[in-house]
Amino acid sequence: MGTKDELLRYLREEQGNWISGEKVSRRIGVSRSAIWKQVSRLRQEGYVIRSSSKKGYLFLGTPEMLLPAEIREGIGTEVFGRKEIVYFPELDSTNRKAKELAAEGAPEGTLVVAEEQTRGRGRIGRSWHSPFQTGIYMSLILRPKLPPNEAPKITLVTGVAVAEALLAVTPLKPDIKWPNDILVRGRKICGILTETSTEMDAIDFVVVGVGMNVNTREFPDDLKEIATSVSLETGKTFDRVMLMREFLRQFEHLYTTFLHSGFESIGKRWSELSILLGKDVSVHMIDRTCKGRVMELDRDGALIIKGEHGELEKIYSGDIHIE
Ligand code: BTN
Repeated sequence: MGTKDELLRYLREEQGNWISGEKVSRRIGVSRSAIWKQVSRLRQEGYVIRSSSKKGYLFLGTPEMLLPAEIREGIGTEVFGRKEIVYFPELDSTNRKAKELAAEGAPEGTLVVAEEQTRGRGRIGRSWHSPFQTGIYMSLILRPKLPPNEAPKITLVTGVAVAEALLAVTPLKPDIKWPNDILVRGRKICGILTETSTEMDAIDFVVVGVGMNVNTREFPDDLKEIATSVSLETGKTFDRVMLMREFLRQFEHLYTTFLHSGFESIGKRWSELSILLGKDVSVHMIDRTCKGRVMELDRDGALIIKGEHGELEKIYSGDIHIE
C-alpha cells in the first residue's frame, strides 16, 4: 500500500477526530511535509480534510466519486476490485480503454472506471448515455481459460450478478431480458457489453462493460420511455460505490462458480430472473427475423424459441422484442 492509501486508511479510522501532524507522520513513517503533500492530493481527489497548525488534521468525508480507494474499501473479494483500478473523471469509453490495456497484457481483474463517458458504447453500434457522476460506467478485464464458444455465457453470468446486486442493496425487482438487458418495470436500468478477443482456439481476454443508471434523473427524448434508473424507481439517491462493490462481489462469486462448476446453477438462476420465458417474441437477427415463443435457456446459453409451426430454433444473438 502506498503512502497516500495508508494515510487515507488512518484518517478514515480517526474520522471526526483531530490528529496531530506529528502523530500522523509517526504512524505512516514519513515526514510531516510528505504527509502534507499527500493530504493535498487527497483533497484534490475530493476528500474533505480540515487542517490546523495547532490541531493537525480532521477527516470529514469521502467524495461522491468512484475513486479506487473507495471501491476497494471493505470490498471483501479476492481479485475483482482488488487489482489495478484505472480511474478517469472523463473518458470516451471504458470498454475501449480496457481492450487497449488488455491487449498490452493487463491481468485479469483490471478494472476501468469513469465518472462520465463521451462515447459510451452499446450493443449493435448503439451509444450508451453516460452523464457525469450519475451512473456506473465500468469495464473489467477477464482472462478465462475457456474455448471461444463459452464466451457468450459470460454476458449471462454478468446479467445474473447485476440482478443479484440490485436485489441485495435496493428494494427493486429486476428482470433479465436476454441476452444483456436488466430491466425494472419493463425499462432498461443496466446494459452489458462483453467484447472478446480470441487467439487460435482459446479466449485471450474478455472485457465486460457494465453501464448502470443509478442516480440519473433525466434521459434524452429517445430514451425517456425505455430507460430508468435506481433513483427514478426508488425516489432516493443511491451510493454508487456501494452498488459497484456489491456487483463486484456477486460477479466474482458467480464467475468463479461458472469456471469451476460450469454454467448449470447460474443458468437456473438466470431463468428465474428472466422476463422472456414463456413470452411471444420476435428476434431480429442480422439476416432475418424469427417469431415464436421463448421455451428455455439452453445449456450452452442459447435461447430456444418455438416457431409458429412448432419448430424449435436456437438463438445465439439478436435483438428481442416482446410481442
Ligand atoms: C447495451 O445495452 O447496449 C450495452 C451497454 C453497455 C454500456 C457500458 S458503460 C461501460 C462500458 N463502456 C462502454 O463503452 N460501454 C459499456
